[in-house]
Amino acid sequence: MKKRVLVVDDEPGIRASLQMTLEPTYEVLCATNAQEGLARFRQELPNLVLLDVLMPGSDGLGLLQSMRSEDPTVPVIMLTAVKTVKTAVEAMKIGAADYLAKPFDVEELRMIVAKALATQALESEVRYLRAQVLKSYAFHNLVGKSPAMQEIYSKIEQVADTRTTVLITGESGTGKELVARALHYNSSRQERPFIALNCASIPETLIESELFGHEKGAFTGALARRLGKVELAHGGTLFLDEVGDLGMLTQAKLLRFLQEREFTRVGGTQTIKVDVRIIAATNKILEDLVPRKEFREDLYYRINVAVLSIPPLRDRREDIPYLSKHFLSKRLEAEGRPPLEISKEAMELLTRYHWPGNVRELENVIEQAIVWCRGTEVTMDHLPTTLKTESRHTGLRQSALSGQVSLEKAVQEFERELILDALTRTGHVQTHAAALLGITRRMLKYRMDMLGIKCPDTQAAPGPKDVPSA
Ligand SMILES: Nc1ncnc2c1ncn2[C@@H]1O[C@H](COP(=O)(O)OP(=O)(O)OP(=O)(O)O)[C@@H](O)[C@H]1O
Ligand SMILES: [Mg+2]
Repeated sequence: MKKRVLVVDDEPGIRASLQMTLEPTYEVLCATNAQEGLARFRQELPNLVLLDVLMPGSDGLGLLQSMRSEDPTVPVIMLTAVKTVKTAVEAMKIGAADYLAKPFDVEELRMIVAKALATQALESEVRYLRAQVLKSYAFHNLVGKSPAMQEIYSKIEQVADTRTTVLITGESGTGKELVARALHYNSSRQERPFIALNCASIPETLIESELFGHEKGAFTGALARRLGKVELAHGGTLFLDEVGDLGMLTQAKLLRFLQEREFTRVGGTQTIKVDVRIIAATNKILEDLVPRKEFREDLYYRINVAVLSIPPLRDRREDIPYLSKHFLSKRLEAEGRPPLEISKEAMELLTRYHWPGNVRELENVIEQAIVWCRGTEVTMDHLPTTLKTESRHTGLRQSALSGQVSLEKAVQEFERELILDALTRTGHVQTHAAALLGITRRMLKYRMDMLGIKCPDTQAAPGPKDVPSA
């Protein structure tokens, strides 16, 4: 669809020549005075306006102002006689996108119009993306209703819009980064950058320049000035992920920055002041690192101001059904697939498992299940075997501990599982299975007889005829 350009000019000659120049590419609407211009602006929603500054009996600048307040996203280009360039500059101050002096050059006109429309498209894309980001990090994206999560929500609300340094602790995959983003996007800094730095992934020799930037020639390979994360985060939030992995040297530099809120780029002399909110995260226990001299005590006190600790998923199992459904619908929606249910048994299994990888592991398991699920329901069959063996163990352990099963029986069950697993993994080649278990073949055979494990008829490894049907 052609973009619409509204021309507001009292001179018929100008209107005609603008129309002739623009018509092949755009749909051109015309108005002869301010009143008519505003009416068409409101009714026909043009993408761009070309507006004469000086029209007898009407005021171009006034019209510009009305248009800007009606819809500031529509670019307005002022048309001006050379004499009134000064007015055009005034117009730019009110918000005109550009101006064009009459008599205008056809190429220049085309270029200015195209450029203003391109800028407008970019701006609207940025607005859209920003809204998407805000939406995706709004509170309701943190899923979970357990008391522990409720406490996290209330703490986020309390500290989000402050400058307080926040330390987020929790095992890997518990949602530390998500909480950090929730803090940022619920603060008045939300329109400013959220810059993350993973302190564990960068070697100590590079991290100072990564944090504070460097000047050209600061070291071999520093071909140009480069801004560090601290400077890029100005006005916004700097997220120091895995802060417990920072080397001692960098810790000293970070401490200085936290105290002074100023720094110098590597190889530079100028002191730079920034306004940055710090959020740090770690899956280590910082208190334990301090006496071992792996984390500076003074830095620890600087960072350990407001602490949000996210409990592991196994300690808030009531969140598992909500999280599972959340990941399921999120993924299906992204793939444009119809909704799926999770069967009762499958949900029980998900809720029972101990999730060493926490929420991230749950998200992966759900994503994998979707790949295999072709029906209307996610069942046990779509869940990885690790979940099943694991929970059988916990089940077994519970039965043994509650006296339902004797110790001997429980141990036998466990042994049977290990042997069956080793046999499956080695394609029932007993020599290999025995090696895997660290026992002799003879011993394996003896145990198998004891436990009543029979060898399948075919001892061969799966051949091409066993290729599963996709
Ligand atoms: N409460 C939650 N609601 C919805 N999604 C969550 C929640 N917690 C975690 N997630 C999701 O789980 C995944 C892991 O979360 P995140 O990266 O924030 O964890 P992390 O604690 O930073 O992990 P790591 O220590 O490994 O860096 C992400 O995809 C995140 O969106
Ligand atoms: Mg993380």
